[in-house]
Amino acid sequence: MSFEQMWRDLQPVGRSASSGGYFRQPYGAAETELRAWFTEAATARGLRVESDGLGNLVGWWDVASTGSTDVPATDAVLTGSHLDSVLDGGAYDGPLGVVSAFAAVDLMRERGVRPARPIGVAVFVEEEGSRFGLACLGSRLVAGATTWEQARELRDRDGVRFGDAVEGAGFDGTPMRLLDRVGCFVELHVEQGRWLVDRDAPVGVASGIWPHGRYRFDFTGEANHAGTTRMEDRHDPMLGYAMTALAANKQARLGGSRATFGRIEVEPNGTNAVPSRVTAWLDARSESPEALAALVDEVTRLGTERAGRDGTSLTVTPESVSGAVDFDPALAARVATDHEGGDWPLLPTQAGHDAGILATAGVPTAMIFVRNPTGISHSPDEHAELPDCLVGVSALADTLARLAG
Ligand code: GLV
Ligand code: MN
Ligand code: MN
Ligand code: MN
Repeated sequence: MSFEQMWRDLQPVGRSASSGGYFRQPYGAAETELRAWFTEAATARGLRVESDGLGNLVGWWDVASTGSTDVPATDAVLTGSHLDSVLDGGAYDGPLGVVSAFAAVDLMRERGVRPARPIGVAVFVEEEGSRFGLACLGSRLVAGATTWEQARELRDRDGVRFGDAVEGAGFDGTPMRLLDRVGCFVELHVEQGRWLVDRDAPVGVASGIWPHGRYRFDFTGEANHAGTTRMEDRHDPMLGYAMTALAANKQARLGGSRATFGRIEVEPNGTNAVPSRVTAWLDARSESPEALAALVDEVTRLGTERAGRDGTSLTVTPESVSGAVDFDPALAARVATDHEGGDWPLLPTQAGHDAGILATAGVPTAMIFVRNPTGISHSPDEHAELPDCLVGVSALADTLARLAG
């Protein structure tokens, strides 16, 4: 099964006919179908599939020299990515890393590579946090960065608890024991900006991930009639939200950070009612933890001041905050150099990844990025050209062969 064939097989799964984007939320029909596809693709390659009590998957290329195909030896070389998507996401964010991993295994076999360490192709569940709000949930649970007690209480938009969704999908919530078996992790991913396009490079290597966080902003006011309530008598929480969204954008520009309100809920959400409550989620990312904290503090201060003037109130609750990630410099250098086509450039990223969770847990980690000509991601317009994807596969195969050799 070639890269192209695998890619064609995945195209229709979870794709919206109207937007062309993907809806592959954890434990839904599309994601379940993708998990079955993974199991079939791994099994067809003779990989031993290990699933855990969350739906995380690893297809193991166990090495005869380890003496056992049942229990993989320690020091495995792990690759892979995720198969879930954001709401109305692109085709590449996640699946490119999984399909490329299988294609890299095929390429290594064609080249006669006989690895001395086990190689695993991983899929982590709920990487995007698009259903339960916490990104990289599958890898966080594997790494112990989030406990089952914390995770099972997370709720989706319909109020379904994570714990119930996991059990409803036939799992028991137990993460796989992975950290002590893995010597390094290399995740291939589509680039989510224009850094490689601007430098005319098909592939690059990530140096690290910016600190980032998600914060819930609750603006509380007073519901009232949109026609009969005089403007000066209102306590309209939408105004605090609107001003805060503008302030976040301005502060991020001033500080070289990123700030986005991409999700908002309004109560009662009626055209002819002043709202009683607006809840909005801020996604903020900065180059340093200090800059991130300063950005969120300033946005909170400005929002609170505005809410006070409107006779409303603002409460800000951090839902998740991730520190800076520096990928392993020696590993990154090994991935970036010694290719037939020369060295790949190093670039920082502002996106979160399971690789960041594993790196924070102490696993030497690197990421390979494949050029995205639109620079657009988390949207149906996300793209990568086939020749660039194949350069990525080859770079990944080189890397895995060297690491496992
Ligand atoms: C995940 O893709 C994120 O960075 O939001
Ligand atoms: Mn991703
Ligand atoms: Mn993503
Ligand atoms: Mn991501």
